[in-house]
Amino acid sequence: MNTVPRAKETEFKGRAVTLNKTEYIKGEGLKPEEYIIEISENGNACITYSDNAGRIYAEQTMKQLSSDGKRVPLCRIRDYPSFYYRGYMLDCARHMFNVDEIKKLADAMALLKFNKFHWHLTDDQGWRIESERYPILNSVSAVRKFSSFGKKKENSAYGRVYTKAEIKEVIEYCGEREIEVIPEFDIPGHTSALLAAFPELSCGKSEIEVKTHQGIFKDVICLSNEKSLEVILNIFDEICELFPGKYIHIGGDETPKAQWEACPECRNEMAKLGINGYKEYQNSFTNKVIEHLEGKGKTCIVWNDAAEGKNLDRRAIVQYWKEKSAPSAEFANSGGRLILSPFTYYYTDYDYNITPLNRTLSFKPEIRGLNEKSSVLGLEVPIWTEYIDSNERLEEMLFPRAAAVAETAWSGKTADYTDFTERFENTEKLLKQIGINAADKSLWKRSRASMPLGWLKFVKDNYSLEYIKWAIK
Ligand code: ACM
Ligand code: ZN
Repeated sequence: MNTVPRAKETEFKGRAVTLNKTEYIKGEGLKPEEYIIEISENGNACITYSDNAGRIYAEQTMKQLSSDGKRVPLCRIRDYPSFYYRGYMLDCARHMFNVDEIKKLADAMALLKFNKFHWHLTDDQGWRIESERYPILNSVSAVRKFSSFGKKKENSAYGRVYTKAEIKEVIEYCGEREIEVIPEFDIPGHTSALLAAFPELSCGKSEIEVKTHQGIFKDVICLSNEKSLEVILNIFDEICELFPGKYIHIGGDETPKAQWEACPECRNEMAKLGINGYKEYQNSFTNKVIEHLEGKGKTCIVWNDAAEGKNLDRRAIVQYWKEKSAPSAEFANSGGRLILSPFTYYYTDYDYNITPLNRTLSFKPEIRGLNEKSSVLGLEVPIWTEYIDSNERLEEMLFPRAAAVAETAWSGKTADYTDFTERFENTEKLLKQIGINAADKSLWKRSRASMPLGWLKFVKDNYSLEYIKWAIK
């Protein structure tokens, strides 16, 4: 059967029939998101579903069963997901994609039975959420003076916020496809755009510009300043009013600690709290944000850098991207939960030479040192966009690798390359109908030996001498 992701239980009666009519029945006692499709000799399809998601997924499977919309296999399918959380992430801070492009992506992701859209909306290079409370975020934080990512240089000013109306339109469209939109406001690092509007919230308090290059930047939020917490919670409150979902991503990745080490107020605050480590210091602040958002009924997600501090609130969910399993395993073994996005398998911003489809397909959804598999809530495929500035490039980087992540997130298993690509043929046609073009098949499969060359090419294509000099200075 041609489904991607692979359906759980399939019984194929050996021939095809012409589809006559389709009947939907709400079933009892089914698992969340479950559906059953029964196609009988007379061409009638009877679909039993557990909830709206199950109904939508049955519709998606019906599209995949038929290559011409008329002939369908005489079959019975019972299907439900292995993982509750099946996400995709889009970085709109480095490069923006318009609402129509984001909707088209939601159509594609719904076809693959994804149910979470993690929208990375704030970073050093731009702020993308309209604020009424702090209009300076719309005017100052949203715009960088020029763009210089790798070898590409664009001299004009870039960026704006998504208006609240646009964000609501995306949330509604995704909601109709049972996709929850999870906004990310990344703190306390990756905050240059925020600090450009509020330099007084950084330890150095000096003027900061919205960044024009890729990288990790030293300016971070001063955690000892009461105003920092006040402004950040006010912004989160405004975000919570806009996004109705249960989850909210609060970042926590790649936070340089040098400014806290050099800041007398931060050192005082650490002494007051009796904290020795800067990772724990970061979490003392993050935990206040988690506490506040829990009070609003939200569950926070943080990148697994934050799990390196041992005091992270266990009510948060850790997103594993850095493939250093011990801190995440320890977090999960002591009551926390995980989402897995291992970067050498699932980051689709790397070329196929570095991360071919066969590698993405090969990731077993677990990490070393985990006591209970059930602490893995799900999987997510991220795409960062420093080097992706067109929708065309975005699509070829995401597809078919996002489909491979969908495969494992739904089926719970890795898939054989040939089996997967054969099933994907029909899905690729359906993606084309949506207007999505996957990467050329010649790019999909690579041996491990291609990786070093892939990296060399990536560095050569994306890192100019000028950038390297700038980055190390
Ligand atoms: C990340 O890739 N910095 C989460
Ligand atoms: Zn400080």
